Amino acid sequence: MTEPLLSATGLSKRFPNGVAAVDDVSLSLRRGEILGLVGESGSGKSTTAKMVLRLLRPDAGQVVFAGHDLTRATGAQLRRLRARLQLVPQSPQTSLNPRLTVGEAIAFNLRAHGWRRSAIQARVADMLDRVGVPPADAGRYPHEMSGGQVQRVALARALATDPELIVCDEAVSALDKSIQAQVLNLLAELQRETGVAILFISHDLAVVEHIADRVAVMYLGRVVEEGDTHQIWTAPNDPYTRELLSSIPPIR
Ligand SMILES: Nc1ncnc2c1ncn2[C@@H]1O[C@H](COP(=O)(O)OP(=O)(O)OP(=O)(O)O)[C@@H](O)[C@H]1O
Ligand SMILES: [Mg+2]
Repeated sequence: MTEPLLSATGLSKRFPNGVAAVDDVSLSLRRGEILGLVGESGSGKSTTAKMVLRLLRPDAGQVVFAGHDLTRATGAQLRRLRARLQLVPQSPQTSLNPRLTVGEAIAFNLRAHGWRRSAIQARVADMLDRVGVPPADAGRYPHEMSGGQVQRVALARALATDPELIVCDEAVSALDKSIQAQVLNLLAELQRETGVAILFISHDLAVVEHIADRVAVMYLGRVVEEGDTHQIWTAPNDPYTRELLSSIPPIR
């Protein structure tokens, strides 16, 4: 067995208000794998994601990414690792800085990770092209684009630094169903092209089923079930997973 790309063990986080948001959660991802993380609102998915990305310090537990202990990484080391581990946030309204054009948003991420000025413009155009946004739209602001286009740009920005892992936190949840399917298909296609591993977070098990190889189900801060997507989709063991599944409206 090769070592996993990401291995999070025993992560816990209690907020000052006393909420135990995450309680002893362990997750691991192999290179190129898509792991779905599902659970209802407030079950601790985003808090887990933030600890994985070291945007939030865990009270307990450890995150090892590509052999590096992220929980102990400092300054320069952490900055270098961040190029290899990127976030695609939730909403089209907040995933991009409204004051930057979409081209500038991608360029900003590249500059932050040491790309040379001379190489940035071509990379921005290439990334926009790969997510199906005309490179000529690089000068547009997020509010001048549709929600689906903004999420395509958010994907382009995250993938621009050639990361080994991206964390998509409800990255398609705010989109209409038909646009959601388009962006999911794009994500799957980009995954195949780049070999990036994805931690794909959603409250919607139907969305996760569409894309993930494996699924972990969270309930009240804990992982209650984990396994192959097809197995969990067709024969869940945990009563909470069964309830999540039964709450999914039939496909029209
Ligand atoms: N900064 C914070 N301070 C206090 N409590 C917080 C904070 N962030 C999250 N929580 C609480 O921790 C719990 C888990 O929140 P989290 O955002 O991780 O859930 P989630 O599964 O991502 O939910 P959603 O599907 O709504 O995004 C919730 O009870 C939430 O209210
Ligand atoms: Mg969340």
